[in-house]
Amino acid sequence: MEDAFSPFAPVSEAEVFHGRSEQRRLVVEAIRTVGRHVVIYGERGVGKTSLANVLRPWLGQAIAVAHVSATAGDTFETLIRRAFASYQLTLPLPAVGFVRQQTEVQYALAAALPGESPLLPDQVARTLANFNYDLVVVVDEFDRLPTEQVPAFADFIKSLSDDRSGSTVVIVGVAESVNQLVGEHGSIVRNLMQIHMPRMSEDELTEIVDTGFTAADCTSTSRVMSRIVRSCHGFPHYAHLIAQYTGLAALNEAKQKGQAIDGTLEITEQHVVGGMDRAVQTADQTHREAYHRAVQGGDASLWVPVVVACALASADDRGFFNSRAVLQALQQIRGQEVVQQTFAYHLGELIAEKRGPLLERTGPEKRYLYRFVDPFMRPYIIMRAQAERVADGLA
Ligand SMILES: Nc1ncnc2c1ncn2[C@@H]1O[C@H](COP(=O)(O)OP(=O)(O)O)[C@@H](O)[C@H]1O
Ligand SMILES: [Mg+2]
Repeated sequence: MEDAFSPFAPVSEAEVFHGRSEQRRLVVEAIRTVGRHVVIYGERGVGKTSLANVLRPWLGQAIAVAHVSATAGDTFETLIRRAFASYQLTLPLPAVGFVRQQTEVQYALAAALPGESPLLPDQVARTLANFNYDLVVVVDEFDRLPTEQVPAFADFIKSLSDDRSGSTVVIVGVAESVNQLVGEHGSIVRNLMQIHMPRMSEDELTEIVDTGFTAADCTSTSRVMSRIVRSCHGFPHYAHLIAQYTGLAALNEAKQKGQAIDGTLEITEQHVVGGMDRAVQTADQTHREAYHRAVQGGDASLWVPVVVACALASADDRGFFNSRAVLQALQQIRGQEVVQQTFAYHLGELIAEKRGPLLERTGPEKRYLYRFVDPFMRPYIIMRAQAERVADGLA
């Protein structure tokens, strides 16, 4: 079960990478097009890093991929030097100047850059032009990079495009960082293929759960699957997490009953509930704290259902929902009619600092739209509600 799912690590092998065919096609197409660069943006946890990780087999032989993650302490120079040093060689080595051994090649690549600081974007572009193969430089976690470093990447993209270089920059980050990049240098817009990574569809999530269960020799019903998948709110992280704990719950039960565990293991809805319970207990401390902050004090018998109703409320693709959607979800939870006034106060409070804030609010009065500040909170709250039976069977 441990090997069948990977809730905490990005996917790194094509065999366990599911769905995303459209996004993958677009990235590959842009990489193959001279003068085009890529921005992959989307919420945390939707699978951006995983997509960047599995590009290699889709690219031609003459393209190499260097993947680096930015931190707050990085600059254009440190990232580029790290990318060149971490260069993973998976193609026939170029004829000139390099020896056919990976370590020597890594050394040779880093050394191809001018030694003195600061390293300028057009120097890097010129260095790449001298290679007789193309490099894809993936800069992940771009949002962590200090803002003053952003223009250098825009310059780098501009230089590569002007040189008609076959090398490609792939920027990976949340949406705001894309705006920043484009905002700095409007002229690079036409050089950028902007690819939005949406949350996963239920079909894609089902594929993850199904493949994992099959690998772990488990059988399940479509109700079990849909219960897991619908609790994920499109986040593959939760598909891995809930499925893994569900499988473990089934395994534990079999052990406790002294059943032999050599055949296939049958997974039931009861195991899903047990699995979510465990998943909630082991969830990120920050999510637990945010939850407690949101429902603290006052009458828990109303705070909890309102918070759960927000998590269940149908939202648009940017995560926004209105109070009507909360009302509907609350009625479902309560199994009876509810009036807006019952929870209007709570909704207003949830955008206050004192309660996190759990939600943010936009739009004109009377037509307010709400959204979870941390989108991961939605599946967490739903999982918790299921484990605590607040909204049993709703997800
Ligand atoms: N296409 C996919 N198929 C299977 N699992 C995926 C896929 N994309 C992401 N995951 C899983 O989802 C979680 C988050 O993925 P990650 O790539 O780290 O997201 P991001 O970089 O957007 O924050 C990881 O546990 C990863 O294993
Ligand atoms: Mg990532």
